[in-house]
Amino acid sequence: MALSLSTTTTVAIVSVILLLILPTSYCSEFIPDSDRDVIEFALNLEYLETEFFLSGALGRGLDSIAPSLAAGGPRPIGGRQAKLDPFLKDVMLQLGLQEVGHLRAIKSVVKGFPRPLLNISAGVFAEALNTVFGRRLVPPFNPYDNGLNFLIASYAIPYVGLTGYVGANPNLQSATAKRLVAGLLGVEAGQDAVIRTLLYSRVQEKVYPYGITVAEFTDRISKLRDRLARDGLKDEGLIVPQADGAEGKISGNVLSADQNSLSYARTPEEILRIVYGTGDERVPGGFYPRGADGRIAKSYLRIHGA
Ligand SMILES: *[C@@H]1O[C@H](CO)[C@@H](O)[C@H](O)[C@H]1NC(C)=O
Repeated sequence: MALSLSTTTTVAIVSVILLLILPTSYCSEFIPDSDRDVIEFALNLEYLETEFFLSGALGRGLDSIAPSLAAGGPRPIGGRQAKLDPFLKDVMLQLGLQEVGHLRAIKSVVKGFPRPLLNISAGVFAEALNTVFGRRLVPPFNPYDNGLNFLIASYAIPYVGLTGYVGANPNLQSATAKRLVAGLLGVEAGQDAVIRTLLYSRVQEKVYPYGITVAEFTDRISKLRDRLARDGLKDEGLIVPQADGAEGKISGNVLSADQNSLSYARTPEEILRIVYGTGDERVPGGFYPRGADGRIAKSYLRIHGA
């Protein structure tokens, strides 16, 4: 008994010494399960962004750039090269390649999972936009038809990731996870700002052939996201009532933020309700026909018996 106790003590002391002398890069691999779950959840959104931006810019996706990061996951459904002018193609390719880096960074910290099945076909966006406007748009909205449509579709994507990272941040324990999430958040916020600024420069333009302004598209998409997420006001279009603008003094709204111009935060549940397009974290659909992966997302799928 005494022997085993002293053995335990010795092991403990040796472990502490080892922890102290090991390089920080090694120590940084010890991250709590709760941090791992949060970071793995983000992987779902990063895969979606990677495939959507790369497809729009190049007509091909992650498999053509860094196939090992897909880890054998199925090919996305329905991605196409968008008809973009050289400027927009260049911007979208930059965003897509940034997402490849995000995948690598996440997978260097957590094991992760293979790319989930993604549906980025025009029809998924068309159905979402029909819901947004409460009627069938004719012709169906197609993100790949032209640059403005692709920007409007892009409006729907990094912002969701951004609110997720803001929501995740206070729950993180380890320095490694905090460093990673801050780095991801910075670039997601930047991507959202680029997309919103490009749209804001055309905010009163009518989207052909619908005769609906860019302002109205963004307002309606934001309202739909709030409705699906059931989260109150966490999403604002490019033109808002003056009371919702910065300091309650302006209706131009190039960034979506709260009364103190701080980014809104969303929970994983709220995000799943949006990206599934079902308003229910237990019912997959939309961009994720089989649901998202990782412990958090799968815990809801299991409850549902899917
Ligand atoms: C992908 O989305 C389109 C449009 O909603 C739909 O018709 C198709 O069935 C979806 N594919 C899968 C595998 O869910």
